[in-house]
Amino acid sequence: MSIQRGDVLEALKVVALPNTGNNIVEGGAVKNVVTTDNSITVTAMVTSPVLHVKKAVEDGIKKALAEKFPNVAVQVTMSVEIAKPTIAPVEEVILPNIKNIVAIASGKGGVGKSTVTANIAVQMAKMGFKVGLVDADIYGPSMPIMFDVEKERPLGKTVNGKQMMLPVENYGVKMLSIGFFTTPDQAVAWRGSMATKALKQLIFDAEWGELDFLLIDLPPGTGDIHLTLVQSIPVTAAVIVSTPQTIALADARKGAGLFKMDSIDVPVLGFVENMAYFTPAELPDNKYYIFGQDGAKNLAADMGLPVLGEIPLVQSIREAGDIGRPASLQDGTPESEAFYKLTQNIVEETIARNNNLPPTTKVEMSNTAGCTAH
Ligand SMILES: Nc1ncnc2c1ncn2[C@@H]1O[C@H](COP(=O)(O)OP(=O)(O)OP(=O)(O)O)[C@@H](O)[C@H]1O
Ligand SMILES: [Mg+2]
Repeated sequence: MSIQRGDVLEALKVVALPNTGNNIVEGGAVKNVVTTDNSITVTAMVTSPVLHVKKAVEDGIKKALAEKFPNVAVQVTMSVEIAKPTIAPVEEVILPNIKNIVAIASGKGGVGKSTVTANIAVQMAKMGFKVGLVDADIYGPSMPIMFDVEKERPLGKTVNGKQMMLPVENYGVKMLSIGFFTTPDQAVAWRGSMATKALKQLIFDAEWGELDFLLIDLPPGTGDIHLTLVQSIPVTAAVIVSTPQTIALADARKGAGLFKMDSIDVPVLGFVENMAYFTPAELPDNKYYIFGQDGAKNLAADMGLPVLGEIPLVQSIREAGDIGRPASLQDGTPESEAFYKLTQNIVEETIARNNNLPPTTKVEMSNTAGCTAH
């Protein structure tokens, strides 16, 4: 006797749809069920980009059907349709066309903030999001090189009588950097006030259009630029990059601490462990924990935050950055997969943040000189 479709759907009702309080049938995740005498094929779709959600649903379907229909061949096809952020713009008046502003910070210099930011931006664009990127490292901009646009200059456009910059675009990412306004051998020797003014211009005097995410690649430390940023715009969330090294982790704690300060109160989505382990190209399965192991995990656990992703130290990531083609442009490599998972988690955590917390407000600080991050 052939297997009834209705019986299959009934059996699938025991499988929960994560984060919804519903089962996969009533939650609309089961898209198709095809049965024969001895086989069942289920097509299911989830809207979460996080891998473990997809896996949980897939495993749940297999388990439920194996129990109800032993000795029947079960095939499950899963797809993921990424839900775009449904929240309202972060603030009505300030940058109304930008849904989420995510700052990438570190504490310590040289841990890979810019590399990680460039790759997140490319992954987001590949996922179908509208992405902008501000290189806030006024004294040491790196984005023009990482996106192979160092010879480009932003065009001007008059909007409502005001002269605005049009961001430079490559790989689906719109970008502005102070590097577009200097020559390669020209050092920017500005006082803090000039640097912060330049940063504000990059953000406000630009025609970004509609954006799902504006990523901000911050300089190291917790200085003027960081304070200007949180004072000027409502930053939706921050992501902290660290290597597993003790000295980097100590600074990462301070970096996270700055955003978590009561007077600033920008939610920190979590940590990125960059250069988590070294993998030589010729031995892709070997992992060498040259900067130590589990440091970011322990720090994250201590601060009650998740590790959003682990990025290996591989030569191709450095080379890709140097030639201006971020590693994430390639599909299917281990490094591209690592950046993909990281980006999924950032998108997911941003959506969760917007669902659970009120929008960030701009920080009003009369005297920032006395701020200390713990
Ligand atoms: N996962 C990685 N594997 C290999 N090389 C990496 C990795 N991440 C970063 N790098 C390399 O490390 C160097 C520093 O990276 P990057 O410039 O991104 O760091 P940063 O934190 O932005 O530095 P700064 O504090 O100066 O802004 C670069 O040469 C980059 O190519
Ligand atoms: Mg940098």
